Amino acid sequence: MSSRLKIALQKKGRLADASFELLKKIGLNFVANGQYLVLKCTDFPADILLLRDDDIPAFVARGSADLGIVGQNVVRESGKRVREIRTLGFGICRLAIAVPRNSKFKKIADLRNSTLATEYPNSTKKFFRSQKIPIRLAELSGSAEIAPEMGIADAIADIVESGTTLEAHNLIPLEPPIFRSEAVLVADPKLSVAKKKLLEDLLARIEAVQKAVDKKYVVLNCSQKNLAKIEKLLPALEAPTILPLAKKGEFALQSVTTEKEFWAVLPKLKSAGAKDILILNVEKIIS
Ligand code: PRP
Ligand code: ZN
Repeated sequence: MSSRLKIALQKKGRLADASFELLKKIGLNFVANGQYLVLKCTDFPADILLLRDDDIPAFVARGSADLGIVGQNVVRESGKRVREIRTLGFGICRLAIAVPRNSKFKKIADLRNSTLATEYPNSTKKFFRSQKIPIRLAELSGSAEIAPEMGIADAIADIVESGTTLEAHNLIPLEPPIFRSEAVLVADPKLSVAKKKLLEDLLARIEAVQKAVDKKYVVLNCSQKNLAKIEKLLPALEAPTILPLAKKGEFALQSVTTEKEFWAVLPKLKSAGAKDILILNVEKIIS
């Protein structure tokens, strides 16, 4: 058996770009080889398998891939047994029930004995069964949004991210959604010890990237007379670093903070005498 980790990624679609970006950020680079669907990592013992997202849970569940990045929506609908290791903070969406605007359907219970078009038959059936509301399904492989206006269904159950597609088809979502979803790192439940080690390494890297996501590195200068006040104001993970500048009586402060906290405190920092303020991106934080 190969000792290289096989990581399944969506080839094209809502998660593809962000998945590749995450792997790059954690130091995994790969060479593309024309239309070949396996990419070799050049700096980590891993290969990327490019798949349709619907197929990722099955690949991981039977060990044909060791890891995968896929939407929780796809995992749930598949019913496959994979370990959900960590959510990844992108691909945030919901599986929603939506009805034509101005229809007689105002709440979910109004859909009793109606027909729903969906590419999520398992999740939809399970939801309505739990609500004890009988419905019929019109199963499609995509584009469920056009079903009501074509007279194929009364309503739909489909993924909503921005809501643009619903709006374009004059549909409105009902509450609550069937579930919420985001991208998740999944693993084969029966990984070898050696592959578990590789996974641990990747997880530590992912954690470092995730910790840095909303963080900024702030550098500013001030005169000695304002130093104590500014030091107190400046948000910091621990405490700001203070360094004397070559010019006597002048200091630099450095701090890691969230962007939100920084904007909130900026006016106060300025009126306290902070100068030459630089805001830099933080790539990784390792505690
Ligand atoms: C989903 C869904 C909608 C669209 C909603 O499709 O089926 O068509 O995204 O997004 P919006 O709320 O931002 O408009 P997806 O990208 O998952 O493609 P697929 O249905 O072909 O798998
Ligand atoms: Zn869809």
